[in-house]
Amino acid sequence: MIPLEINGKRQNIDLPGETPLLWTLRDELGLTGTKFGCGMALCGACTVHLDGQAVRSCVTPISTAANKKVVTIEAIGNAPVGKTLQAAWVDLGVPQCGYCQAGQIMSAAALLAHNAKPTDAQIDEAMSGNICRCGTYTRIRAAIKQAVAKRGGTQ
Ligand code: FES
Ligand code: FES
Repeated sequence: MIPLEINGKRQNIDLPGETPLLWTLRDELGLTGTKFGCGMALCGACTVHLDGQAVRSCVTPISTAANKKVVTIEAIGNAPVGKTLQAAWVDLGVPQCGYCQAGQIMSAAALLAHNAKPTDAQIDEAMSGNICRCGTYTRIRAAIKQAVAKRGGTQ
């Protein structure tokens, strides 16, 4: 049994410790907002937070996540930063197909939780591992900047 805390709920998962967190979230717990893209930490579609850090859940074994706080796209709106980001995403109509967008928001939320007023270069660096085949990068950056402005630089 692996003890996990997912979106504030503690639960024991009866899976081998090497099972990727992504599969556990999607197949075991039904949290399908986190997407599978590459399975090799190359696209960012599977990004979740592990103790507040953005991680690629496709290459994170659940043994690594034991006794840490996992937050997924399903709960990021419960935090002020996540809520503001989601509102900016909607306001600016960021998504195209939408497939990458959960990962994009999770990476942006981790950035703003640690850096309330990122520069353009810091935004680009933090988001560089999240690929969007639809090319929504310009609107993603605009939405992050709108969220920063709305929050007045608070974390
Ligand atoms: S599915 Fe995890 S980084 Fe692509
Ligand atoms: S919105 Fe389609 S991949 Fe990003």
